[in-house]
Amino acid sequence: MIKNICIVGYGCIAPVHAAALSKLPEEVKIYAICDIVRERADKGAEKYGAKAYYSIDEALEDEAIDVFHICTPHYLHFPMTEKCLAKGKMVVSEKPLVMTKDELSKVSVFKDSDLYCIFQNRTNNSVQKLKEIIDSDKTLGKLTGIRAIMTWKRTAAYYRSGPWRGKIATEGGGVLINQSIHTLDLMCLFGGKVVSAEAKMSNHSLKGEIEVEDTVEAFVKFENGASGIFYATNANAFDSPTILDISFENASFRYIDGRLYKGGELLASDTAEAPGKACWGSGHEREFFNIYKGNSPLKYKDVENTLKTVFAFYESAKNDGKEIIL
Ligand SMILES: NC(=O)c1ccc[n+]([C@@H]2O[C@H](COP(=O)([O-])OP(=O)(O)OC[C@H]3O[C@@H](n4cnc5c(N)ncnc54)[C@H](O)[C@@H]3O)[C@@H](O)[C@H]2O)c1
Repeated sequence: MIKNICIVGYGCIAPVHAAALSKLPEEVKIYAICDIVRERADKGAEKYGAKAYYSIDEALEDEAIDVFHICTPHYLHFPMTEKCLAKGKMVVSEKPLVMTKDELSKVSVFKDSDLYCIFQNRTNNSVQKLKEIIDSDKTLGKLTGIRAIMTWKRTAAYYRSGPWRGKIATEGGGVLINQSIHTLDLMCLFGGKVVSAEAKMSNHSLKGEIEVEDTVEAFVKFENGASGIFYATNANAFDSPTILDISFENASFRYIDGRLYKGGELLASDTAEAPGKACWGSGHEREFFNIYKGNSPLKYKDVENTLKTVFAFYESAKNDGKEIIL
């Protein structure tokens, strides 16, 4: 049966959801768009021939809605998810899904429920290829370490573009919980369970503008004994390609700029065409395909390792880089 979707929060990322959902006409219908800014809800509703709602509570009264796509600022993810699940609705939440360690412990009780989360880079061709190799190639030897580096530029104008950005209470943090969470997610996917973490954070470039970190450097130990180093910043003068180096005893891989290499050999390339910013990639469509066609979609338990590591980094940074045992 076709599922009726309500997209909540029609800002930057929601149109990417809408465009991707439109490609699944046999599975879903964009039934409603909800935003507290009326013009945004009206604009999306008009484009997709959907109903407009101006509050999620109002939308939750509409029994025809089956699924809520949460595309709101970070501080609203968990409370909205909790409300929707309590009403028996299915939820697809944008990252990060939760904003604090306390919310993480509360959301873990929903692990078997109809709750899906968007970490779309996991569906990239290169990521799928490398995961497949790691899981099947017995000649690689043990993982020895991962190096992950994301260096982007986010200006004061970017942070001023939404009232929730750059503030602890509404964004929860900066470059770590927002931009580089995808890079950390891949590091955790390839490295396995993180057992300890240390991190330091700074605001180098936007003092007086943002309360959150623009830079994080961190060190993790994985359960299998390998180590990971992680560096992410929004203080670069330009957006440069994100790099993940994944090293095994007998082989090493580099994932850079949407391409996966083993030594110098190109093994896979990501698909380029997608609406929105290039750094968002084209994974939303594939994630929705997985969710609505029941093809192993991402649930809370799949991203728990990443989210625990995020909050361990924040805890470590608050304690002068102390080692946090997970
Ligand atoms: N997966 C990705 O690559 C990716 C990329 C960009 C953003 N995101 C995530 O998407 C989410 C939204 O980010 P964005 O850049 O679209 O932000 P945005 O500020 O552009 O959009 C948020 C929208 O939510 C609306 N909103 C705020 N409070 C609301 C409420 N109580 N009820 C209904 N609507 C409300 C705002 O009016 C705004 O239109 C964030 O979690 C962000 O991290 C993910």
